[in-house]
Amino acid sequence: MEAFTCVQDFEQSAMKILPISARDYYRSGAGDEVTLEWNKNAFRKYRIRPRVLRNVSSIDISTKVLGERISMPLGVAPTAMQRMAHPDGECATAKAVQQSGTVFIQSTISTSSIEEVAAAAPSATKWFQLYVYTDRDVTMNLIRRVERAGFRALVLTVDTPFFGTRRADVRNRFVLPRHLKLANFEGRLSRKINESSGGSGLNEYVTNLFDDSLEWRDLHWLKSVTQLPIVLKGILTAEDAILAVENGASGVVVSNHGARQIDGTAATIEALPEVVEAVDGRIEVYLDGGVRTGTDVFKALALGAKMVFFGRPMLWGLAHAGEEGATAVLEIMRKEIREALALAGCRSLAEVTRDMIAHESVYSRL
Ligand code: GLV
Repeated sequence: MEAFTCVQDFEQSAMKILPISARDYYRSGAGDEVTLEWNKNAFRKYRIRPRVLRNVSSIDISTKVLGERISMPLGVAPTAMQRMAHPDGECATAKAVQQSGTVFIQSTISTSSIEEVAAAAPSATKWFQLYVYTDRDVTMNLIRRVERAGFRALVLTVDTPFFGTRRADVRNRFVLPRHLKLANFEGRLSRKINESSGGSGLNEYVTNLFDDSLEWRDLHWLKSVTQLPIVLKGILTAEDAILAVENGASGVVVSNHGARQIDGTAATIEALPEVVEAVDGRIEVYLDGGVRTGTDVFKALALGAKMVFFGRPMLWGLAHAGEEGATAVLEIMRKEIREALALAGCRSLAEVTRDMIAHESVYSRL
């Protein structure tokens, strides 16, 4: 494998390797893709305030999430249908995560099944991203299987009554290629995604099958049917963060679904402070969206995230070289996170405090 030095190298390579419809599906955001750009660029609006002469000869970037120790504060966000990137798909990503000692979140609409992923990476910390189907028996079946397979949490995606319009998918009439299927399902639920009646076949699938009537009270139903901790992914406001705490979530992911749902939302790093303030330490707060470097992770931690996730970079690694590429992406990020801490004068994540960064507006006022 070529010696790439940063996540962007993998992205450039993947853009050349991937078939057009998979590339566009993974890459796209909703609408004009304004938030897609903001997610990345907003990190640049924060400046690091490095402290010096602090003996950084020993750096510890491990942390604990939902009670479990992990080797670094960066995990893998759920992304769908990973076998479009590489034949080993989610199994390769989970193995890379196992090797790196962090968290893998498997998508409901994955092309490897819950059981295949559990067998490929038995000792990885695995969480399961849940989409609730209108047929609650379908959802119950998924929950029982992830419990049996040793997954540690359910990550309920709360921003998706249906999928936002990703224009390239409409133009490409995006469908899952016929040699692949949604591996967690049988029959229609598995195969309907291989068809389009004119636009994005994926959006048609989701619109037909996902429950768009979900409300806060459904969280109580979910809590009544499982002991697994429930993390809500897709919280962007203080109001919803408070509701998440009041309704018994164990954590929230400040996320705009990789800018793929409603265009025009704040970048996640911009939304993070109000969520952290509203939650006030009562549950864990995580972030995904636009994370590409170790300093991005540093900034999110300084603003109060317990941990950060990224999705697309893993797909670029996977496309490039399967498990090896996915592992390389994680290890580049580990190196960058360590370097960010050390060069900012922090020896552990506890030292990455709010005063370690400042918003650019502070400097323009000077
Ligand atoms: C899947 O969750 C997607 O955003 O396409």
